[in-house]
Amino acid sequence: MSKGKKVTVIGTGNFGSTVAFILAMNGVCHNVVLRGRNYNVAKGKALDMSQASNAARQHTIVKAGKTPEDMADSDVVVITAGAPRTPGMSRDDLLLKNADIVKKYSREIKEHVPNAIVVVVSNPLDAMTYVALKETGFPRERVLGMAGILDSARMAHFIYEKLEYGAGQIRATVMGGHGDTMVPLPKFTTVAGVPIEDLLDSEEIGEIVKKTRNGGAEIVNLLGNGSAYYAPAKSTTVMVEAILRDTNQIHSCAVMLQGEYGYSDIVSGVPVMIGAGGAEQIIQMGLKPLQINRFKNSVASVQKMVDKLEEMKFFKR
Ligand code: LAC
Repeated sequence: MSKGKKVTVIGTGNFGSTVAFILAMNGVCHNVVLRGRNYNVAKGKALDMSQASNAARQHTIVKAGKTPEDMADSDVVVITAGAPRTPGMSRDDLLLKNADIVKKYSREIKEHVPNAIVVVVSNPLDAMTYVALKETGFPRERVLGMAGILDSARMAHFIYEKLEYGAGQIRATVMGGHGDTMVPLPKFTTVAGVPIEDLLDSEEIGEIVKKTRNGGAEIVNLLGNGSAYYAPAKSTTVMVEAILRDTNQIHSCAVMLQGEYGYSDIVSGVPVMIGAGGAEQIIQMGLKPLQINRFKNSVASVQKMVDKLEEMKFFKR
């Protein structure tokens, strides 16, 4: 238990609510503030979660945030706000709409919670993390995007589905942007330390890689009116916990690259050591030429979105 820790979750949709609920269930912080456009909905959900926290014999109090001031003194602010994908939409289709929303909240965070660590989960994830970085002006350690943990969890699930053993022991690695060009890395994926290449043939691995890339869209199509939220929310709280508990664990997260992997001033998913200071260290893995090439494509697709925002003078508005 970390005494006195406070987390603000912006967005009361399925994603934000589930993030707040998991935090209320695991006792990693004392206070959660849930902020959304509809105060009554936020208040209703907050009450329900605080009561659930008592049922779980936890101490976390969830409150609805009415004004930006209610975020004050948060250790972590999670931005989930934004429109989700609907069938047929790519994450990139949400670019302009969600960029405006993330900008608005980033400016409020800058003013009211200048020392917070920001975890961005709005889509398109890497571009939204870039927007949050620019609009808060925070150092890169304090603005992280959640995606690699989710994509790795999806890959782990598909490996388990194939093997039918090893649940909970699968360590899958996915780098790059959270989009169609994400880079699952079978070579860095093991089951209890055993490389998956010793357990599955290349055709099976190829299928898993494909399913991982399509993992979010598969759920969007099934739900019909929104995107996944249980695995995304759990993956987000893994990051929040690593920060609040200062675990120094390595997770794949979207961060601003400043020379790492040969890129600068662009956000992409790479292994990051997370502690109380946020993204305290970026880990450089030795990639093979094919992996380097795929990572390059992935970075380029994020750069395209950032360029689109630049063209529209988004950052000057
Ligand atoms: C997904 C959304 C959250 O991958 O990006 O399900």
